[in-house]
Parts: sequence; structure tokens; C-alpha cells
Amino acid sequence: MNPSRSPFSAAQLRALAREHGTPLWVYDAATIRERIADLQAFNTVRFAQKANSNTHLLRLMRAQGVVVDAVSRGEIERALAAGYSAEPNAQGASGIVFTADLFDAATLDTVIRHKIPVNAGSIDMLDQLGARSPGHAVWLRINPGFGHGHSNKTNTGGEHSKHGIWHSDLPAALARIGLHKLHLVGLHMHIGSGVDYSHLQQVCAAMVALVKQTGVKLEAISAGGGLSIPYRDGEPRIDTAHYFSLWDAARREIASHLGQPVKLELEPGRYLVAESGVLLAEVRATKRMGGNDFVLVDAGFSDLMRPAMYGSHHEMSLIPADAAEDLSARPLQASVVAGPLCESGDVFTQGEGGVVLQRELPQARVGDLLVLHDTGAYGASMSSNYNSRPLIAEVLVDGGEARLIRRRQTVEELLALESV
Ligand code: LLP
Repeated sequence: MNPSRSPFSAAQLRALAREHGTPLWVYDAATIRERIADLQAFNTVRFAQKANSNTHLLRLMRAQGVVVDAVSRGEIERALAAGYSAEPNAQGASGIVFTADLFDAATLDTVIRHKIPVNAGSIDMLDQLGARSPGHAVWLRINPGFGHGHSNKTNTGGEHSKHGIWHSDLPAALARIGLHKLHLVGLHMHIGSGVDYSHLQQVCAAMVALVKQTGVKLEAISAGGGLSIPYRDGEPRIDTAHYFSLWDAARREIASHLGQPVKLELEPGRYLVAESGVLLAEVRATKRMGGNDFVLVDAGFSDLMRPAMYGSHHEMSLIPADAAEDLSARPLQASVVAGPLCESGDVFTQGEGGVVLQRELPQARVGDLLVLHDTGAYGASMSSNYNSRPLIAEVLVDGGEARLIRRRQTVEELLALESV
């Protein structure tokens, strides 16, 4: 077990696996509170709940003064269930903002019914909302014409991205806002997930330039999300004070240009929850085939999709089945760690493009536990029922107490949907 990686001890995880079975998501509340505290310089921290939308985590966020972003009707309902509303908080920020590039009919009804501000990524959204809900609060999500991400799939700017209103269409969007008498709150730019400082400077400059060119009157700007976390041992943590100073300078420049106060929102998903979570799996088989030693665990890409989808790296640790065993006595082995799905891509040790990689781990044995670290973001929220595997349980550890915050789905529940 790599103690610098995990908020949990081996004994704690062994006990949780015994009590709840595997695979299992385990989250640490204290880590989430720490990450929130890192960002307290921002006026408003808006959690992009797509990273992890468990309502118990949303309640924890709410207790810390964090507001939320929702990208679907389901996420709006989750926010409402966690006690959020469209009402502004003490900083004047709405509890929920809905961000999307389109409305489906049911979601449009929901945002109108609950008066939820909309962060619009297309002019059609402004027309559809404005026609039914004049005066509704809107943000404009701007595509500045460039983007960046940890993979092409998480780059959300530039002409190949479907996201946002193209920067040069801002005057047209403002005209529609005027036509429909919508209420403009601010401009939002999210250029991708996993961005670095050079891109950050570029996006801050683009925000300032756009406001100066158009003279758009606004109350707030949103920096979007995208803060990365150190997924690999030895990788440095992002300097959140530097991050804040870049955006705050943009905010001040805009405020002085407009001659009015302007607030700053940040919309992180990954940063707040990734490091709080682990995926706990059990080793169920080992085999050597040619040059590869396979370690087969009971979690698959139906649970944690990131390695298969993006070639993402997650650190791994082994916990021996026998608490008395000293793992350092086992030889190290270059291992290919894979899951139970009937698909060759169900491998946790892979790079971009699906190339299979080996990971040095203590030689695994059936019954050991495997810990996949930093899986609190885009883990459970991206799970599926592929191979008819029920969604797995989630546990939240807060201080000394471990609480089941989602029970394991059953196969009967899957079948029930088809009893029509
Ligand atoms: N705001 C907007 C409008 C977004 O589209 C996203 C992420 C965020 C905020 C939060 O980004 P974050 O702070 O988490 O980087 N499934 C991928 C990440 C996809 C992100 C999509 N949008 C992954 O596992 O890496």
C-alpha cells in the first residue's frame, strides 16, 4: 500500500472490503474539505458534479459553501435532492447553474420550473429559453477558438469541439439576450480538463479581450474547471494561489474597464474529489501468457472507465489478504492488471490508443486487494452496466465513521427495467 497516495490505511480498506464486498468505491470526506479549502480565495466555487454526483457528496459540498453545476436533468434533480436551489447564496451566486449546448424538452421544462440559471453553449438555447421564460438568468459559455486537455477527448475549445458559443458570435448572442429580455449574469470559458498555466494565461487574456471588444456588461466571469491533480507519484500539485492570481487579475481588469464590480467563479470537478477516492478490487485470478503476467481483478472498465477511454494512469497498490503478511518480502513483478469484462480493452494498465502496459507491483495472489488510487472523480459517475454488471457500492469515510452512501445495484433491478 502506498500511504502517500491514499487517505486510508490498509487495515481500514481490508475491513471495508469485508463488510461491503468488492469492487467498492471508498471516499474520504477530509480530503474533499482540504481541496475545497485550497480554493477559498475564489468568490465562488461551483462543483462540476459530473465528476461525482453522489448526493451525499453534494451535501458535503453544500455544508462547505460550495455551489454546483448541473449538466442534465438528472444532475439538477440530484442538486435539488441535496438541498440546493436556484436561490443566490451570500456571495450572490445561484446554488445551481445548468450548463449545456442544447436543451431536451424535459430539461427545458425543469430549468424554467425551478428558475435555474442557464449557462448556454448555443444561440438556439437562448431562443428556446427566451421564448418561454423572459427575464431568465443566463451565462454565455464561450468557445475562445482554442482549447487544451489531458487527451483530445477532454479538450473543450477550438473548432473541433462542439462546446460553447463561438467567440465571434458573442455580439449575435448578446442581441438575442436583448431580444428575449434575458438577464445576462456573465461569461464562462472552460477550455478543457487537465489544463496548464500557459493555456490558462491564454484563456484569461481571451476573456479580457472579449469583454473589451464588445463592452458587454456583466456581473461575473467563470473560469470553468479543468484543474489537474497529480495522478502520478512525484508529479507536482497545481499551485492554486498562482491559478487564482491569474484569474483574479483578469477579473480586476474587466471590473476596472466596466467600472463596476465583477465576481469570479471557478468550476472544478476533478480537483475537489479525485484524490478523495479509491476503487477497491479483489484479485481473482493470475496467469502468465507469453511475456505478460496478468493480474485479474473483479472491477472492470464498467466501473472505472478512464484507463480504457483515455489511457489514463492511476497509481495502484496491493494489500495482502493476510494482515500479518509483510508485502515487501514478495518479489516485484511487471504486471498487466485487467478486469472481468468480455472485452480485450478491459485493462487498467494501458496507455493512449489502447497499448497494453506493464506495471511493477508486488507479485499478486488471489485474495489480495488491489487499490486504484485517485478515482474519486470520473469513476463512479462514468460507470455503466456493460456485461450486465450492477453498479457497485460507495462508502464515505468521515473521521472515524464509514457510511454506505450508495448500495450495490442488483441484477434483479436491471431486469426489472425490461418487465414491460
Ligand atoms: N465545467 C465544464 C463546463 C466542463 O465541461 C467540465 C468537464 C468541468 C467544468 C470540470 O472539469 P474538471 O475540473 O473536472 O477538469 N471524463 C474525463 C473528464 C471530462 C470532463 C468534461 N467536462 C476524465 O475522466 O478525465
